[in-house]
Amino acid sequence: MSGARRSARGAAVGLALVALAGLVPAGCGTEPAPPGVGKQRYLDLVKAALTDLLYENDPRIRARLAGDLSFWQAVLRGEKFDYPARAHTMIGTARLDNIQELVEDVIARGVPGDLIEAGAWRGGATIYMRAVLEANGDTERVVWVADSFEGLPPPDPERYPADEGLDLSEVDALAVSLEEVQRNFERYGLLDERVRFLKGWFKDTLPGAPIEQLAVLRVDADLYESTMDALVPLYPKLASGGYAIIDDYKIIPACKKAVDDYRAANGITAPIQSIDWNAVYWQKE
Ligand SMILES: C[S@@+](CC[C@H](N)C(=O)[O-])C[C@H]1O[C@@H](n2cnc3c(N)ncnc32)[C@H](O)[C@@H]1O
Repeated sequence: MSGARRSARGAAVGLALVALAGLVPAGCGTEPAPPGVGKQRYLDLVKAALTDLLYENDPRIRARLAGDLSFWQAVLRGEKFDYPARAHTMIGTARLDNIQELVEDVIARGVPGDLIEAGAWRGGATIYMRAVLEANGDTERVVWVADSFEGLPPPDPERYPADEGLDLSEVDALAVSLEEVQRNFERYGLLDERVRFLKGWFKDTLPGAPIEQLAVLRVDADLYESTMDALVPLYPKLASGGYAIIDDYKIIPACKKAVDDYRAANGITAPIQSIDWNAVYWQKE
């Protein structure tokens, strides 16, 4: 057997073994994967990298990121709560799946507008938004990443009584710089001109932000004040048929109250849908 033929056969055997191990799509190198399989494998891999579920992790954080409710029950019992050491998002797979479902839905129905997250931390949810656009061949929509990039403001209970006692401003783990978030986008090959950053407190950056229309508005800002500062300027820009997603609605009473107050003040009656133990969304009518 010639050296060339031997190495061709060796490569084929190698590929078959890799495919058997499930490391590349079955049929890779011989026949194309069925439509959609490559896309979903790409997104699943991005999701596993963003959540750090690709690697070993603190088992309690791993359980949380994988969406295991029993972990949350443990937290409610007063066991240690911590932020993931390496993951680029803290929202876990169920909420990433929700982002994919809603972004693909607005693309399929032609709902106009960009995507935004107010409260981005290490950027993971917005990286996933950009990945979903990429995987679906969307070449128009922009992903907006709004954050102070220095953590949460201290609560102002005189103006926002619901925030009394909710001081996360000293939590260093919540302060992630703009440069670090940009580097995280770069690691996935997803930093380009269709990712735009709004750096500063929401009350300063969002009212004048150069956003024309939104198809998906995701708010993950914990405080009553921050949640309201995001909804007031951004919700009117959400297109009819688009989606509002609220992280922490089920677990932070101040966040829930801001959303409930905003909906009541603006006559929003669209039913609130549950995502997991933490988050909700609704579709704008
Ligand atoms: C819980 S973290 C967001 C987690 C993130 N969505 C993820 O995928 O992991 C909350 C973020 O909101 C930001 N934030 C909260 N209130 C803010 C405000 N008023 N203005 C700007 N950023 C704010 C914090 O800096 C922090 O990065």
